Amino acid sequence: MDKKLSLLFIFSVMLVSVEAEPVEDKQALLDFLHKMSHSPHVNWDENSSVCQTWRGVTCNTERSRVIAIRLPGAGLSGPIPPNTLSRLAALETVSLRSNGITGFFPGGFSELKNLTSLYLQSNKFSGPLPLDFSVWSNLTVVNLSNNFFNGSIPFSVSNLTHLSSLVLANNSLSGAIPDIDIHSLRELNLANNNLSGVVPKSLLRFPSWAFSGNNLTSVNSSHPPALPMHPPYTLPPKKTKRLSETALLGIIIGVCAFGFAVIAVVMVLCCYDFAAAGVKESVKSKKKEDSMIAETSASREKNKIVFFEECNLAFDLEDLLRASAEILGKGSFGTTYKAALEDASTVVVKRLKEVTVGKKEFEQQMEVLGKIKHENVDALRAYYYSKDEKLVVSDYYQQGSVSSILHGNRGDGRTSLDWDSRLRIAIGTARGIAHIHVQQGGKLVHGNIKASNIFVNEQGYGCVSDIGLATLMSSIPSPGTRASGYRAPEVTDTRKATHSSDIYSFGVLLLELLTGKSPIYSAEGEQIVHLVRWVNSVVREEWTAEVFDVELLRYSNIEEEMVEMLQIGMACAARMPDQRPKMSEVVRMMEGIRPENRPSSTESRSEVSTPTVYAT
Ligand SMILES: *[C@@H]1O[C@H](CO)[C@@H](O)[C@H](O)[C@H]1NC(C)=O
Ligand SMILES: *[C@@H]1O[C@H](CO)[C@@H](O)[C@H](O)[C@H]1NC(C)=O
Ligand SMILES: *[C@@H]1O[C@H](CO)[C@@H](O)[C@H](O)[C@H]1NC(C)=O
Ligand SMILES: *[C@@H]1O[C@H](CO)[C@@H](O)[C@H](O)[C@H]1NC(C)=O
Ligand SMILES: *[C@@H]1O[C@H](CO)[C@@H](O)[C@H](O)[C@H]1NC(C)=O
Ligand SMILES: *[C@@H]1O[C@H](CO)[C@@H](O)[C@H](O)[C@H]1NC(C)=O
Ligand SMILES: *[C@@H]1O[C@H](CO)[C@@H](O)[C@H](O)[C@H]1NC(C)=O
Ligand SMILES: *[C@@H]1O[C@H](CO)[C@@H](O)[C@H](O)[C@H]1NC(C)=O
Ligand SMILES: *[C@@H]1O[C@H](CO)[C@@H](O)[C@H](O)[C@H]1NC(C)=O
Ligand SMILES: *[C@@H]1O[C@H](CO)[C@@H](O)[C@H](O)[C@H]1NC(C)=O
Repeated sequence: MDKKLSLLFIFSVMLVSVEAEPVEDKQALLDFLHKMSHSPHVNWDENSSVCQTWRGVTCNTERSRVIAIRLPGAGLSGPIPPNTLSRLAALETVSLRSNGITGFFPGGFSELKNLTSLYLQSNKFSGPLPLDFSVWSNLTVVNLSNNFFNGSIPFSVSNLTHLSSLVLANNSLSGAIPDIDIHSLRELNLANNNLSGVVPKSLLRFPSWAFSGNNLTSVNSSHPPALPMHPPYTLPPKKTKRLSETALLGIIIGVCAFGFAVIAVVMVLCCYDFAAAGVKESVKSKKKEDSMIAETSASREKNKIVFFEECNLAFDLEDLLRASAEILGKGSFGTTYKAALEDASTVVVKRLKEVTVGKKEFEQQMEVLGKIKHENVDALRAYYYSKDEKLVVSDYYQQGSVSSILHGNRGDGRTSLDWDSRLRIAIGTARGIAHIHVQQGGKLVHGNIKASNIFVNEQGYGCVSDIGLATLMSSIPSPGTRASGYRAPEVTDTRKATHSSDIYSFGVLLLELLTGKSPIYSAEGEQIVHLVRWVNSVVREEWTAEVFDVELLRYSNIEEEMVEMLQIGMACAARMPDQRPKMSEVVRMMEGIRPENRPSSTESRSEVSTPTVYAT
């Protein structure tokens, strides 16, 4: 079964049945646990599903084997019983850190040929390290620090060609340090042992503290600094964007800046064409403003605003220009304004920059978008196209975007976004995108899914806006910006958004909702952290609740739902496009998290494309 099929297979398994179970691995785990004392938090019940409910156990996608066991701080004590964990031959990750495990390094671990990460730090292991490390050819992380291991560091460690971290600090290791010439090695800590001799040349690139607390000769502090764990990404210098002087909506900003917050607007009644009637408003007090309106009035006749919904939102360009406007945000596609019209209605006007397509293509795309009517898709109300100005008008959402709800006003006085709300936002967004993906014969692509383009509808569900504009534009977000964190890896090269790149972006959004972190953020030390990489590394290395937003930790009984959503998010944000699920699939998985969130009417159900049958 290739990787794609197996991924899809597990999705269908997740939805249809939960029967598959690695019976022998389960028994091995039970044998292990029953022979060790442990805290009552280890919920390994022989009658429950090992892959689904056992804390700290991860199965492969086929649910045929256990591939990871993570029991940090689980109160385990005593030696690891022989012939238990060693039967889990498919194990890739073993984390038993921060327990009270005694005895020698378990010899049976040499059976775990697929082991990549081994965390046994902060226990009471003693005796020698295993002599032959080369049995674990894929081992990448070894953390055995804070134990009582003695003897020497085996030379076979240098056979681990994938090794990236070797942490043996705070043991009683003695003897010489072997020449570990491994290019992938990024982290080394041998401090506080009883090692002697010299630091081999190949390891001189590591900082001196990695060797401190030993009896080494000629270790001095003038080593070149260690390579950082993650290459430090530097933000490109902020480009100061030059706003075009002749920009029409620039007038609005000018008006606001000069304090003309509200200028009288005459609303055009039901489809009455203001411009055609030749009525001129006379509340103009700035010369500059006068001239600019004059400049554009000539072209206005033939470039009228095109409305999609009849009559209940009728205004012309001039109304828009005169409305009091406030900048909501500047995105990669242009600046977005909130425009308050005189009749107290408020719309969002997006001024598109760098539109690369001609008028005809633009209009065709708008016609497609204007027809989309769905509760989870922000309706396009109107558009305007002229040589030097392209505008799209849509509804205004009082609460602001999901980005501002999630990230805005952290700290005092913040009303946190609870789990139910996040789940509804995620499900609504998934439905909206799935609906978009079946438009235009399945060819419509959103192209710019990000939290600042998701709003919350009256029922509290996510609602997708800014659809299909990506195909009209030339600009893509510059690296290092928050927006670039949603971009699928392949889009960097192809510069072409697809359904599967939309799904990647949606995956990032899910991770954002779960972690409360931006897709790209800077951690301490100014390092730029990519959310997807960070989540993957946390989940791969240590299964902890650390990924989840602290705001969510106060709600009880949501852990399983969060983990389910995390799995969906990670599947969507898979590096390879063909490993990502389809959007209709995602909708069903999302609805599976909380069955009552399934749509009640069969009508909205049918919006999701028909299930696909998978061959295996
Ligand atoms: C599991 O189920 C069997 C049979 O139904 C029962 O005898 C046993 O006590 C159950 N074990 C636990 C731990 O609940
Ligand atoms: C080890 O990993 C490989 C590749 O992922 C897989 O084909 C193999 O079945 C695994 N070994 C065991 C014992 O599961
Ligand atoms: C190591 O990983 C590779 C690639 O994932 C896999 O094909 C191989 O089976 C693994 N090797 C061993 C011994 O597992
Ligand atoms: C190894 O364990 C130590 C002690 O718990 C910890 O500080 C360090 O971050 C760990 N390193 C890795 C790579 O796991
Ligand atoms: C390691 O420690 C054990 C006791 O835990 C001792 O018997 C053994 O001699 C020590 N080995 C070395 C090389 O120090
Ligand atoms: C490294 O691996 C090779 C082949 O797997 C083996 O022959 C050799 O003895 C190993 N070297 C050490 C130092 O263990
Ligand atoms: C080793 O022990 C010292 C002192 O207890 C501690 O500060 C340090 O973090 C430990 N090193 C590791 C890698 O755990
Ligand atoms: C460290 O090693 C030396 C010999 O190299 C030995 O004499 C000494 O007892 C060892 N110290 C500890 C604390 O193990
Ligand atoms: C340090 O090593 C030297 C020889 O390598 C040995 O003579 C000395 O006793 C060691 N010191 C300690 C504190 O282990
Ligand atoms: C420290 O190392 C550098 C380069 O390896 C060497 O030139 C220098 O003499 C050393 N200093 C001491 C105090 O050993």
